[in-house]
Amino acid sequence: MITISKNLKLREILESDSESLFNLMKEIYPAAYSHFWKDGGEFYVKTQYAKENILRELSEENTSYYFVLFKGEIIGNFRIIWNKKLGELKDKKSVKLHRIYLHSKTQGNGIGKKLLNWLEEEAIKKKYELIWLDAMDEQPQAFEFYKKRGYQYYSHCFLDFELLYDEVRKMSQVYKEFSILSNQ
Ligand SMILES: CC(C)(COP(=O)(O)OP(=O)(O)OC[C@H]1O[C@@H](n2cnc3c(N)ncnc32)[C@H](O)[C@@H]1OP(=O)(O)O)[C@@H](O)C(=O)NCCC(=O)NCCS
Repeated sequence: MITISKNLKLREILESDSESLFNLMKEIYPAAYSHFWKDGGEFYVKTQYAKENILRELSEENTSYYFVLFKGEIIGNFRIIWNKKLGELKDKKSVKLHRIYLHSKTQGNGIGKKLLNWLEEEAIKKKYELIWLDAMDEQPQAFEFYKKRGYQYYSHCFLDFELLYDEVRKMSQVYKEFSILSNQ
């Protein structure tokens, strides 16, 4: 267990947690993204959080996958891929924030900010130079959140899932360099 603050902790996700993670994301994901999908996001959750995909992600090297606990209750997930390069910035020692999802009942209370700060501090300690992630442009809650935290545009693509509505396909890669982080 990792303690970020008195009420905020991270607990490693284990293979035996795959069903709990699926059930959690069946609740969290549609609340934030159902309007992006023609099927309300059902296909996405079923594939991303299928047992075999969870086990594959847990077995990947250089990754950390956590449940987010607030006051002892599981309220989200948080996945980090250490040593994951970003395109042309491949000379920088980089870490990717792969997933951060919080339950709607706990959003907007500064938990996301605390998690991101914690990751940035950990990355600095481990001598990383850059942190990056993918974010959907049409989800202001996430996109503006990263912009406010100083993340800048690197590149973008358009996701080709058939079930996604065309106007929400844009996904940007954003990053923050450690020289900026350590000056804060
Ligand atoms: C995105 C997410 C991780 C942010 O965590 P959070 O705990 O809700 O965010 P915080 O309370 O720490 O807010 C951080 C900042 O984002 C800003 N923000 C939040 N929602 C916003 C919105 N809709 N528009 C503009 N800014 C917004 C807040 O104003 C706050 O800024 P401040 O510190 O200047 O006040 C969380 O809301 C979430 O899990 N959302 C649903 C899933 C998702 O989209 N995940 C990201 C996938 S890339």
